[in-house]
Parts: sequence; structure tokens; C-alpha cells
Amino acid sequence: MRILVTGGAGYIGSHTLLQLLRKPHEVLVLDNFSNSTPEALKRVKQLANADFEICEGDIQDGTRLDTAFRAFRPEAVIHFAGLKAVGDSHETPLEYYAQNVSGSIELLKAMQRHDCRRIVFSSSATVYGEARYLPFDEHHPLQPTNPYGRTKYFIEEIMRDWVASRQDASAVLLRYFNPVGADASGRIGEDPNGIPNNLVPYIAQVAVGRLQHLNVFGDDYDTRDGTGERDYIHVDDLARAHLAAIEFAAAVTGCEAINVGTGRGATVLEMVKAFERASGRAVPCKIGPRRDGDVARMLAAVDKAARLLGWNATHDIDSMCRTTWNWQSANPQGYLQA
Ligand code: NAD
Ligand code: UFG
Repeated sequence: MRILVTGGAGYIGSHTLLQLLRKPHEVLVLDNFSNSTPEALKRVKQLANADFEICEGDIQDGTRLDTAFRAFRPEAVIHFAGLKAVGDSHETPLEYYAQNVSGSIELLKAMQRHDCRRIVFSSSATVYGEARYLPFDEHHPLQPTNPYGRTKYFIEEIMRDWVASRQDASAVLLRYFNPVGADASGRIGEDPNGIPNNLVPYIAQVAVGRLQHLNVFGDDYDTRDGTGERDYIHVDDLARAHLAAIEFAAAVTGCEAINVGTGRGATVLEMVKAFERASGRAVPCKIGPRRDGDVARMLAAVDKAARLLGWNATHDIDSMCRTTWNWQSANPQGYLQA
């Protein structure tokens, strides 16, 4: 298939590209490199031993989108591009709504203009908000608690309405739980700007010596050891879910939201231990207060993904930590040092 990949240079996009190219699918990447570097794409090309075009541009720019659609005539879109920091979204909500929501509308309009009818969208488990029950299944009420989460919720609704307005369109809204890990080669991985917000990149930077210790955000939650529990999903499994989703979208019409997780949770301290095992390095921890907005537990119901996509997660947390360490230790400064 010819697939336009927005945000393809980012963490999840680059891992998905690798698998798309190996299938092989034809891809065109559209990215403004606001949170990534062309180096990631260079490495994807080397790993896949395949070439593809890169269109530097913003999803809010309809003219740029027209150029890309005209030149490449994509049969489907995988839409990763967007801003993703929960904390920043409280500071600059309008930027989040502009890039994520308006950007997605521009993309759908371009798809409409160029008769492209299939889309797979990066949504997030954050759309569920506070758990009324666990695990979260796709029928759980949606009540996101931050502007970032609300952009995902609104985009989901917009895509649902767009699909409903047409006979022949399909959208798969993948609700990712906590993506971690890296390609086994250690050549591509997560390379956050500045001090990481998320647990596993933070632990990795402690292990490699860039940061002194991990601040554990609370140990008084109602979990096995008092620290927050999450459903971590290996980025390779997540990338595979996109391949399954794009094939599903090509075969059906309509809109489906689908969780992507393992159905198993790990606490902060369990992740620290797994990372110490994987790296052979100590990860010093300081227990501190809870982080505003955090919940005790997030866990995915995964039967819909198995039923509709024939997809299951295969990696455990040891593999997630091993591949993260592999990437971090080979690239202590991320892509910068290349
Ligand atoms: P990322 O920041 O590494 O990748 C996003 C990519 O999109 C980057 O390459 C960035 O330069 C590009 N981009 C951003 N705004 C753009 C715009 N307006 N026009 C064109 N390109 C733009 O993030 P990621 O972790 O790979 O996440 C990909 C998607 O998955 C995002 O939509 C994110 O919200 C969603 N998601 C991520 C997580 C996570 O924990 N990583 C969890 C749930 C959902
Ligand atoms: N944590 C720490 N110390 C840190 C960072 C995190 O103790 O330095 C803890 C958190 O309190 C939480 C767990 O580690 O218990 C995971 O935190 P992350 O920040 O890695 O992930 P979140 O579950 O908070 O959020 C992530 C993404 C969101 C996405 C959500 C989906 O950041 O964008 O997963 O479940 F929506």
C-alpha cells in the first residue's frame, strides 16, 4: 500500500516506518521536525535498506499537504504528528488545539480533496481519564483530565463524524497505553528533548549517568508496592499493531477505537528493578510526593485488538528495558552525537 506517515520521524513513527518498509509498503513521511531529527529517518533507511521521500512540513499547512498528496497519491494515512506533553498542554492549550485538532482537520480535508479514505490515528489511553473500573475497555466513558487528552478525544470524535459522513471511509483510533522500548538494533529509540517527563526514558538517563536519581512520584497509592502501575507496551509491538490496523482499515468501512496494551501492569519500582537487571547498573531512587494529575493504575483490556486486528503484544518488561538500555547505552546523547 502507499501510506502517508505524518510524524514519521518521531519515536513511534520511526519504529512503525521500519516495519512498514520491511513488509514492504511504500511510504512518504511528512514531518516538521519540531520534536525529532532527520537523523532518525536516515537510520530507518539504513536499517530497512530501503528509500522513501520525506516532505518537511506542517500538518496545518493545507498547501503543503496538497503537494504531498498530489505527488504520492497515498491510499492510506497513519497519523502520528502532534504535540504530546501533558504538562505543556496546561501551559499552552491553544497551541495543542491548533496543532493537534486543527492539524488533524486540515489532514482530513486534504484526504477528502484527494480521495484518500483510510486513516489510522495515534490516540491515547489518556482519553479515558479517571478509571471507573479496570481494565479499561473501549466502552469505558471518556473524560480526559488535561488539554492534551482532550485534543485526542476531540480528534477521535471528529474522525468518527467524518467517517459517518461517507459510505466508503475507515478510521482506526489506536489508544496507546505506555509505549516504551526500542528497536533491537539500538540504532533508533526515544530521544526526548530536555529532561524526560516519562518514567522509562528518565530511568535510562539515570542508568547512563546523565541524571543522578529517579524521583518516584508517590509510594502511597493503592497498588502492590504503593507506586503507580501502568500497562507498558513495547514500541515494536505497537508498530506491529499499526500494520494490522492499516490492513484492517483497508478491508472494512467505519470507525473503531482499539486499545493497544499488554493487559499486564508494572509498578514504578518493578520497572526500576527490571531496568537494573537489563543494564547491570544501579538506578538510585528518591521517593517524593505524588505528581499532580497521576492516577494509581492504568490497565488495558486487550481482547478487541486480538479480535479485530489479530494482534497481541509479545514483549515483556524485561525485553522493554533491555532494548531501551541497548539504545541508550549506544547513544547516550540520543541522536545528537551522530
Ligand atoms: P514524537 O514527538 O516522538 O513524534 C511526533 C512527531 O510528529 C515528531 O517527529 C514531530 O516532529 C512531528 N510533529 C509534531 N507536530 C507536527 C506538526 N504540526 N506537523 C508535522 N509534524 C509534526 O511522539 P511519539 O511518542 O512518537 O508519539 C506519536 C503520536 O502518538 C503522538 O500523536 C502522540 O500524542 C501519540 N501518543 C504517544 C504516547 C507516548 O507515550 N509516546 C502515548 C499515547 C499517544
Ligand atoms: N513516574 C515517576 N517518576 C518519573 C516519571 C514518572 O515516578 O520521573 C511515575 C508516574 O507517577 C507514573 C508512572 O511513573 O506512575 C508512569 O509515568 P509516565 O509519565 O511514564 O506515564 P503516564 O502514565 O503518566 O503518561 C503516559 C504519557 C501520556 C499518555 C499516557 C497513556 O505521558 O501522554 O501515558 O497511558 F497519555
